[in-house]
This record gives sequence, C-alpha cells and structure tokens, in this order.
Amino acid sequence: MTTGLKMPNNFLWGGAVAAHQVEGGWQDGGKGVSIADVMAAASREHPQREVTDTVEPGKVYPNHWGIDFYHKYSQDINLFAELGMQAFRTSIAWTRIYPNGDEKTPNAAGLAYYHDMFAKLHAQGIEPVITLSHFEMPYHLVKEYGGWRNRKLIDFFVRFATTCFEEFHDEVRYWMTFNEIDNQTSWRDPHPLLQNSGLQLNPGENAEEAMFQATHNELVASAQAVLAAHKIDPQLQVGGMLAMVPIYPLTAKPEDQMAAMRAMQYRYYFGDVQVQGKYPSWIKAYWEQKGYQVKVSASDADILRRGTVDYMGMSYYMSFATKERADGKVEYDEAKDLTDNPTLQKSDWGWQIDPVGLRWILNWMQDRWRKPIMIVENGFGAYDKVEDGKIHDNYRIDYLRAHVAELEKAVVVDGVNVIGYMMWSPIDLISASTGEMAKRYGLIYVDQDDKGQGSGERLRKDSFYWYQKVIQSDGVDL
Ligand code: BG6
Repeated sequence: MTTGLKMPNNFLWGGAVAAHQVEGGWQDGGKGVSIADVMAAASREHPQREVTDTVEPGKVYPNHWGIDFYHKYSQDINLFAELGMQAFRTSIAWTRIYPNGDEKTPNAAGLAYYHDMFAKLHAQGIEPVITLSHFEMPYHLVKEYGGWRNRKLIDFFVRFATTCFEEFHDEVRYWMTFNEIDNQTSWRDPHPLLQNSGLQLNPGENAEEAMFQATHNELVASAQAVLAAHKIDPQLQVGGMLAMVPIYPLTAKPEDQMAAMRAMQYRYYFGDVQVQGKYPSWIKAYWEQKGYQVKVSASDADILRRGTVDYMGMSYYMSFATKERADGKVEYDEAKDLTDNPTLQKSDWGWQIDPVGLRWILNWMQDRWRKPIMIVENGFGAYDKVEDGKIHDNYRIDYLRAHVAELEKAVVVDGVNVIGYMMWSPIDLISASTGEMAKRYGLIYVDQDDKGQGSGERLRKDSFYWYQKVIQSDGVDL
C-alpha cells in the first residue's frame, strides 16, 4: 500500500522500550532494587500491581527477568538493525548507576554496561535516545526519604543525571528527564503516584497536594538536569516526556467545552512549566482555593525559568472525553470525570483507539509550545497467536498504519515539527501497568509467558516486515 506521504530525510524512525521492562538481570552488575523490582504482576481483569516491601516468596515479579535484554541486547540490536531502526529509545536504570540512589559515587559495572550497549547501537548505525527516569527509581529512596515529596531527591537525581551526561555525552545526544510525568494527574490511583514519584501516602495525607509537591520537586530537578547537560556539552538535547492524551469535550455544550479545557490545562501544566519556565496562572489560583501549601524555594523560579527543555518527547496511545461535572465545578478529577467517546473503538484493555487524535494533539502541542516534538511511544497492546512459527498481527499493523498516516499529515500537511517516531515497541516486553507479558506490543515476538516460562526465542511478526518497508520508503509505503 503506497498511500503514505514522504517524510523528511533526517526524520528518525525507531522503536522504544524502558530498562525495567526488558533488561531483567535485576541483581546483576551490582544493581540495586528499584520500584519495579517490588511490583508484583497483575492481570487485565485485576490490573492493580501490588507493591511489596520485600521480595515475597510465591509472588511473581516479572521485571526481575524482563525479556533478558540485559544478556541478549547484542542479538536484539542486530534484529533492530535488520528492521532498519535509526533510533532506539531506552532508559538508563537509575539503580544500575546508583544502586540505592543516595551514594556519592557511581557503580562502575552499571556504567560499563551502558557504554557497551551504546557502542553496539552505534556500530549498527542506531542512535540511542535515553530517558533518565522511567518508572524505576531506587526503592531505597521511597522507604528512606518518602519519595519525591522530599527535596533531597532533587540532588540525588541531578547527581545521577550529571553522571550520565558526563559519561555518555559523546554517545548519546537526545535525553529525556521523567517519563510521562503527567500520569500523576490520576492521583486517586496509587499506582502512578508510586511508579512516577515513589509516593506512599501517609494516613490523612491529601493525595492531590502530595502530587503537586512531588511533581514540583521533579520539575525543578528536570530543569537542573537541563542546565547541567548544557554546561557539560552544549550539543546535548534534553526533553520533557509527556503522555499525550487529547481530552475532548463530549458535546458542543459550553460547560463541556470548559470542562475539557480545564482537563487539558490540568494534565499538561507540566509541559507549560518545562517549556515556558513557569507555572500557568490557573494553578496558583487553584492551590489557593484548595488551601494547598506547595513548598517552593526561593531559587526554584529562577531554575525553572532557565532550565527549559530543548524538545518535547511524548507517548500517544489513546484519547479521552469529558463533560460538565454534576456539581458544576470547573475542576478535573481524572478518576471521575472521564467518559467513553461513543465514536471510538477500544483495544482488549479498554484503550480507546483514535489515530486522528494523534494529528490533533501534535497540532495542539505545536501551537502551544512551539518546540520540536519527538514521538517516543505509540503502539498497540494485544494478544498474539503463534501459528507455524508465524504471527499474523494485522490488528497491530492496522493500528500503526493508521497512526503513522496521521503523523505524516501532521508533518507534511500541517507543518508540525516532529523530529522522530519511536514506536512502542520493536520487541515484546513486560507491560508497565499490569506486569503481563500477554499484553504484547512487539514487532518481534518473545517466546515467554506471564510467569517468565518459555524458550525466550525471538520471532519476527508480520508487523516487523511492515515497519521495515515503512522505514525503507521514508513513510511512503504504508
Ligand atoms: C506508557 C509507558 O505509559 O505506556 C510504558 O511509558 C508502557 O512504560 C506503555 O509500557 C504501555 O503501557 P502498558 O501498561 O500497556 O505497558
């Protein structure tokens, strides 16, 4: 099918993973325990992943083994090269570099591991794109310091980031600070609060206020990391990373429009701070009305102002819709105020499928922030069946094709400055939300089940060959 539009020559086509979802080797090379290492598996029916204080016998911790990328990265990178990937996004596991998070000196074995991986990528002509914190902070920082509500984490993170920039600046040009920092607007759900910020709520603690405090500290840390990177090497490009989910008004009713606008403001203020260097005015009014005392130090405003990002990384999977609240308030509560969009279909996991929403949100970002955009996640989690060693995943091809077509319209027709597309994921991995293997995203199948059983063999799915042609044809052959 050749309905695609030709994408610019320097456009980066690639694929994305995160360290904790693929590496395994959770105790290898002096690695410390991360949040992901104490998160037990859940399921589609019961998606809440239990976090245990220690590793408990009889429980399944799928991030302990991932897909064994820690040992198999060399062969997997060969497959990525065969696929034609020009960029590979992964994260550096914080606990490989600073096992507990508060050490003064880094772990040499962890640094050596990533040097080796980046060398292998470069040898294959693949550009690494790196996230510093992707749902895998050291668990010690949760237990000893209370996670990101504690300002000490700013220094720990900046030390980790600085070490990475100093070590890898010749090997890695594109960086992102915090993965999907905006997921935490879903603060009624304990999972994102813990996964992103290491927050375990104290009795009586206000979850929303704790979220604002933790994310303020993260935004300051992110800005300080940008400043550190530019000082070490002005060539480095440091981005934010947001889960972009358009929140449409359900109807043309003005009250629904207002609800949707506030929802978008609420979910994306992180981007406003990271790009514009200051909080939007609605948020200060909101904190005042709620009586929230978010601790902001005297120097924070200056750091946020100076440490703005070079580009914005984003994931895109689905869209939401919202409508006027029953109580008439213009507030957004993600757990209560989202509603199904009757015009869209859903995946088996209930994610609403909306390719046009990708073009919509890219235009929205361009208008609002005027920064280069890198899509660092977009993909389809589905059950796959192996038949005679083949996986005919047309549903995944359909999803990706429809999204790439809208991305191309955004770039070629609308002139949005998108610099890369890293689909999620070139290879099957552990689902972040449920810990399942059965929710497969890969173009490459990994023979492994939810309990980690299987040969681990890699098989090319039909979608592998489809994406290979897309890259070869600069997006023309969809
Ligand atoms: C994003 C995360 O939220 O979505 C990834 O950055 C995650 O880590 C991806 O894997 C898909 O979500 P899930 O829960 O299906 O793995």
